[in-house]
Amino acid sequence: MGLHVGIVGAGAFAQSFIPLFKAHPLVERVVLCDLDAEKLAYSTARFEIGDTSPSLEDLCGTGVDAVCLFTQNWLHGPQAVQALEAGKDVYSAVPPGISVDEIERLVAAATASDAVYMLGETSYYYPGVLYCREQYARGAFGRIVYGQAEYYHDWDHGLYDVARWRGGENWRETAGIPPMYYPTHSTSQIISVTGARMTQVSCQGFRDVHEDGIYRVNDWSNPFSNQSALYSMSDGSVCRINEFRRVGHPGCVRMGLQGTEGGFEQSAGGAAWMRKDGTRVENLDNLLACTGQPVSERDPIGSDPMERDPTGSDLMSKVTASDGTHLGVSAVHPVERLPAAFAGLPNGHAGSHQFLVDDFVRACVNRTLPPNNAWDAARYMLPGLVAHESALRSGALLPVPDLGDPPDRD
Ligand SMILES: NC(=O)c1ccc[n+]([C@@H]2O[C@H](COP(=O)([O-])OP(=O)(O)OC[C@H]3O[C@@H](n4cnc5c(N)ncnc54)[C@H](O)[C@@H]3O)[C@@H](O)[C@H]2O)c1
Repeated sequence: MGLHVGIVGAGAFAQSFIPLFKAHPLVERVVLCDLDAEKLAYSTARFEIGDTSPSLEDLCGTGVDAVCLFTQNWLHGPQAVQALEAGKDVYSAVPPGISVDEIERLVAAATASDAVYMLGETSYYYPGVLYCREQYARGAFGRIVYGQAEYYHDWDHGLYDVARWRGGENWRETAGIPPMYYPTHSTSQIISVTGARMTQVSCQGFRDVHEDGIYRVNDWSNPFSNQSALYSMSDGSVCRINEFRRVGHPGCVRMGLQGTEGGFEQSAGGAAWMRKDGTRVENLDNLLACTGQPVSERDPIGSDPMERDPTGSDLMSKVTASDGTHLGVSAVHPVERLPAAFAGLPNGHAGSHQFLVDDFVRACVNRTLPPNNAWDAARYMLPGLVAHESALRSGALLPVPDLGDPPDRD
């Protein structure tokens, strides 16, 4: 018996994920859900999906095992709690919530429930992050002394359209959300490598006076389009996070990490690894380029593919995949663990989508704790929420609360 998955929000981002949930060999049924009947009709036709639900409320009352949230970014916290309390496993697009209270409620709901919660944090599978995780595990950094990560996305690079389709008529009210209320692409890069958490923060903001007025009147009375935060970390290191929405830059999600023995740097010029004891700087551009990788011969799910798919369509996709590759991944992505049925299917955000869907589906089927679980999500998100508070208080040094580790369940 495979997993029954309900996808909530058939908007722009979900378009990349619906075919992956549908194709995963451990998923038996996909139900599509959106309040907007027109978007729902478009996606059901596009992806040939027969089952629909008109709202999250309705979906939670059905027999689906899992609910995947691709709704607007300010809705996820309460929606995830609602689904967890209905006994559903939950996948949520970022962010996990947009207030300390929402994150506390999320972690409380995940603690009280046996259900799986996973944040779809795309940065977790960025090639630079994968590379650093490997180097860290080998001890190649030595002791971490400093980390930095940033997400730069200027309004002129498509964000006006995004804000309009997410926010509707009064889009400016939600468009001016503090940049530090969307920090997880940056914070997760450092935290998911070293496991250290942010303990204190001082943050400064750039007061935006652009004529579009986004940061003049908004739901959060937020005046900042750019914010820079400096953190002390639980491992004794220092970390700097930038969230910029008004910046003369093509846009990036990237990181740097320095240890006592080695370091990793990413810039507009490329990526490099360096060691204290060597004069050579190793250029990583080819290794980390997301150009696609061949499909592995080994199929990691099930010993006999015909057993799980009597039609053989799963095998067929392996030989007819458009170019025989897992699209958009780098040489450091562990593609051999992906279902063969994902070959040739859409991928995105530096090869991360397919891994995130696979992580979630396996955690639901095997009843295991996924990466980017509720406790990880809290450690990615709370540092941004407190950073904004600090920026409003001219950089006051504030403690970052910690909601602890996942409970030990047998
Ligand atoms: N790299 C990344 O991780 C990344 C990239 C892009 C978007 N995102 C996230 O993806 C999410 C979706 O973004 P988008 O641009 O697709 O938004 P969108 O506005 O296109 O889609 C959201 C959809 O959710 C539906 N919805 C809202 N509440 C609902 C409810 N209660 N029941 C049923 N349907 C409901 C809306 O009608 C809408 O169609 C955002 O939260 C965003 O933060 C993440």
